[in-house]
Order: sequence, then structure tokens, then C-alpha cells
Amino acid sequence: MTRIAVLGAGYVGLTTAACLAHFGHQVICTDVNEERIAALVNGVVPIVEAELPELVREGLSNGLLSFSTDNADAVHGVEFTFLCVPTPQSPSGRADMSYIEAAAREIGPHLARESIVVNKSTVPVGSTKVVERALRRPDVAVLSNPEFLREGSAVHDFLHPDRIVIGAESEASAVRLSALFLRLSAPVVVTDPASAETIKYAANAFLATKVSFINAVAALCEAVGADVRQVALGLGYDRRIGPEFLRPGPGWGGSCFPKDTAALIRIAEDAGYDFGLLAGVVAVNEEQHQRVVAKAVELAGGSVQDRVVGVLGLTFKAGTDDMRNSPAVEIVRHLIRLGAIVKAYDPTVREPVAGLDDVELCQDPYAACEGAVVMVLATEWDEFRWLDFDKVSGLMERPALMDCRNLLEGAMLRRFGFEYKAVGIP
Ligand code: NAD
Ligand code: UGA
Repeated sequence: MTRIAVLGAGYVGLTTAACLAHFGHQVICTDVNEERIAALVNGVVPIVEAELPELVREGLSNGLLSFSTDNADAVHGVEFTFLCVPTPQSPSGRADMSYIEAAAREIGPHLARESIVVNKSTVPVGSTKVVERALRRPDVAVLSNPEFLREGSAVHDFLHPDRIVIGAESEASAVRLSALFLRLSAPVVVTDPASAETIKYAANAFLATKVSFINAVAALCEAVGADVRQVALGLGYDRRIGPEFLRPGPGWGGSCFPKDTAALIRIAEDAGYDFGLLAGVVAVNEEQHQRVVAKAVELAGGSVQDRVVGVLGLTFKAGTDDMRNSPAVEIVRHLIRLGAIVKAYDPTVREPVAGLDDVELCQDPYAACEGAVVMVLATEWDEFRWLDFDKVSGLMERPALMDCRNLLEGAMLRRFGFEYKAVGIP
């Protein structure tokens, strides 16, 4: 049994802590957010994440998982300290390293001799050096171990990774870290720290590129009368392309793709390389938000000024309560700028959302349909498939639906009298 500290009890930190405890390690997880830690101590998981509550309760009940707000005390005597604190986008586009540096400065004097500090946060190339300097502990090795989990399936992704990437200066410390993951059957890619840090940004940038690519192909499909669902199917069977991340939608969002693509563009710029390809990927994404709004306006008869628009879904994708950089929220903002009266429903959003004060937050999907000239399905929650569309149609001023996720069957909607538009479907 290895003693481990995990700093940050967010999507990555809490998942890492709970899964490492599940492997049989003794884990303490900290956060500066006292409310969050108070909830976790009582087995209450403050984020929507499948399987996580069960693992947290398992760890609490067998004593392998504990929580604290005291970083200095938590790292006392542990062999590994994982940094899972935020690296948000700063105004320049670069990743804000202040949380990482503050955490490193705080724990430096308290780390056990020859212990290992692991950067799991997504950090710019060269960040292991930044952490080393902040720690002021030459005996402590700093490794990069980027995380590839997705929100909504964080536990599953942590327990079934495609690969484990470890960036280390010394082979011995990489071997020590890899031993923690012996329960996983995944290839371990050991690199130098700069390459590991680059792999993480490149992976997110590539996935964002795939989604922007299929969104661009969807626009082409609309122009030439092809069906993007069939095109994606035909593309995806090519093993060099693969079927994942070829779902067109309202553009990608979330807490990572937007900030990580911006950061990689800045990393390249700072190093003297113009990453024009990635800038194009970001531009396609911004256009995509506008394209779906324009189609909704068309469905509303050309204007949404002073008219009710119902929005189904606010989170950046289904399966999470995370609204950071959500395309759905972006769509709502566009609609409000166009003068619409927006009513919105999301199964995970019960409290009014900061920054969306003008939106009427509904407690059930049908309330969002009342008096609407058009419904915009913005997040692919499964429950939207099973709405009573006869009832929806009856509640609306006129039945029209913009399906930004290609979730519904157009033919079925049209039988209920809807005017229906989707993405890349003639
Ligand atoms: P998050 O905002 O959900 O959680 C971070 C937590 O760290 C917060 O609860 C915050 O209060 C806490 N914190 C801040 N400073 C602290 C400190 N000094 N000590 C202890 N706790 C502190 O963030 P997240 O989504 O878990 O992301 C964390 C990092 O992992 C980011 O760099 C992100 O890019 C990366 N990442 C995220 C995902 C994802 O799906 N969310 C996936 C892979 C990588
Ligand atoms: C993404 C990556 O998938 C993870 O590997 C990575 O660890 C993580 O970012 C991170 O670094 O934080 P996540 O942001 O949770 O995970 O969500 P994804 O499932 O990747 O979706 C991102 C966005 O792309 C969402 O808005 C989603 O709706 C959109 N998307 C995804 C599509 O529009 N089409 C697709 O086919 C796939």
C-alpha cells in the first residue's frame, strides 16, 4: 500500500483519488474549497459524475480515502503528491499557472525526502521545471502524468485508459510512478517531460480538430445535399480515421478544448511557430455556434426579437453538470443578443445560472416549450428523445425544432407537424 496525496478535488483530482484508493492505496485528497471538502467527508460528491459517488463511499468506508483542506499536512510522509488544480485560460490565452505554483510553494517544505510530485493538471511545456523551482526541493522528482479522462465517464476512462503517459527525467522515477497503475492494462508511454506535456495538448487539439472537421463537412453536406450521418459512418470505418469524435453538433466546448486549443496556439506562437491549422479549427468552431443559431432564427420565421425560444440543455455535453464554455450557453447568449425571450431546461441545472440572469430556468422540459416559436435542442440528454412531442407541439406557438445534436428523428418530428432542422442532414 502506497501513501498518496491528491491536491484538488475537482473532476480530475477526485476521480484520481477515488480510483487510486480503489486500487488499494492510502489516499488523502485536498481542496481549498471548504464546502466541497465538508460534503466529501460526508460521502456527498458535489459534481455529477457516473460511478464516482460509489467509489468515494467505498474509500471512506474502508478507510483508504480521506479528505482535508490542509495541503501541508496532507503531503506529510506521502510517497506521491498529485497536482490536480486548475490551469484556466488567462487573458493572453496562455494557461494560468498560478494555482500550480501556489500549491507547489505551499507543499515544498513539507514533502517527504525523495518523494515524487506528479503534474496531472494540463500544463504548458516546461512546467515540471516551474514546479521544481516553486518546490525548492532538489531531492524531490517532478513528473508529468497528463490525464485523458472525459467528464461524464471520468471513472470509466481512468480505469480503462488507452495509454498512460509519464514524462520523467529519470527512468527510475518513471518506474516508481508506473507501479501505481499496475492494476491497469494499458501501454505505458515514458517520455521526457516536454514531450508528455505536448502529448496532452496535441491530443486535445487533435480531437477538437476532428470535431471541427466533421462540423465543416456537415456544412458541406447541407450545401450539396448529402447526409453527414452517412458520411461519418463511411469515414469512421477507415481505421486510420476511426469512428469517434465524428458527431457533428453546435461546436465543441467544455472546460478543456477551448482553453487548451488557445494555450497551444500561444505555446506555438511563443516558440516562433504559427499554428495556423489550429487557429482555423477554432474559427470553424466559433462559426458553428453561429450557424446553429442562424438556423433556429430561420425556423422562427426570420426573427426571434421579443419572441419565446425554448432551449433544451445547458451543459456542454450530456452526462455532466459542467457548463464551463458550454456551446448551449453560447447559443443562449446569441439568442438573447438577438432579442429573444429564452426559457431553458437542463436536467442537472436547478439553480439560476450566474451570467444568464435574463433566462427563465424551467424545472421541466415542457415548461420551456410554452409559447415558444422554436425549440433549440442544445445538449444531447437522452431524456429529450422521449419527450411527448404531441404535447410539446401543443404548448408551442408553432412547432419548430432546431436539433443541434442530431438526436431526434426528423421523420418522426415532421409527423407531429414540426418544422425540423438538424446539422448536416438534408
Ligand atoms: P476543477 O476546477 O474541477 O477542480 C480543481 C479543484 O482544485 C477545485 O475544486 C479547486 O478548488 C481546487 N484547488 C485550487 N487550488 C488548490 C490548491 N492550492 N490546493 C488544493 N486544491 C486546490 O478542475 P478539473 O476539471 O479537475 O481540472 C484540473 C486540471 O486537470 C486542469 O489543468 C485541467 O485542464 C486538467 N484536466 C481536466 C479534465 C476534465 O475533464 N475536467 C481532463 C483532463 C485534464
Ligand atoms: C476532453 C477529452 O475528450 C479528454 O480526453 C480530455 O482529458 C479532456 O477534454 C480534458 O483535457 O479536459 P471533455 O471535455 O470531458 O474531454 O469532453 P469530450 O467528450 O471530449 O467533448 C468535448 C466537446 O466536444 C463537447 O462539447 C462535445 O459535445 C463535443 N463533441 C465531442 C462533439 O461535438 N462531437 C463529438 O463527436 C465529440
